[in-house]
Amino acid sequence: MFLITIEILIEVRSVPGWPYDVQFNAIDTRAVMCINHSLISGTISHSLRAQKTGIHSMTFVVTEACIKCKLTDCVEVCPVDCFHEGPNILVIDPDECIDCTLCEPECPVEAIYSEDEVPAGQEQYLELNAELCQDWPVITEMKDPPEDADEWRDVKDKLQYLER
Ligand code: SF4
Ligand code: F3S
Repeated sequence: MFLITIEILIEVRSVPGWPYDVQFNAIDTRAVMCINHSLISGTISHSLRAQKTGIHSMTFVVTEACIKCKLTDCVEVCPVDCFHEGPNILVIDPDECIDCTLCEPECPVEAIYSEDEVPAGQEQYLELNAELCQDWPVITEMKDPPEDADEWRDVKDKLQYLER
């Protein structure tokens, strides 16, 4: 069987002369062709959004459930490497996130939300992600979680345990 895999990442930001910031992303475009079996399959995930200049683009946000769990399942799917690692939580750089949605379903503790769906009471994580990503290194590969991660999965009000 002859197998071809093609992966393409295209990103175009801000078109000169337009009154809007335009962001078009064609990400995770994979074509897999099995020639002998005449099978062609592919997935295209893309988003087109336009926002008035000066308004922040949509981002995904890591919230409280990640604290002390830090399972890192989320990092390897991000096509633009926008996860940053702190001592006991990851955060997303809002200036890098392209709103592709790939990371959200990867988190086993459902810590990742689109910024317009952050649960009530956790709105401060929008600011925390934007602030903490400035100082913490990018993480792109999964690593072992903390040994006691399971014990923290269902604990609420974990902001007090966030380490900087
Ligand atoms: Fe990365 Fe998640 Fe943003 Fe996609 S939605 S760019 S995977 S942080
Ligand atoms: Fe945290 Fe979930 Fe990623 S626990 S490290 S947001 S997979």
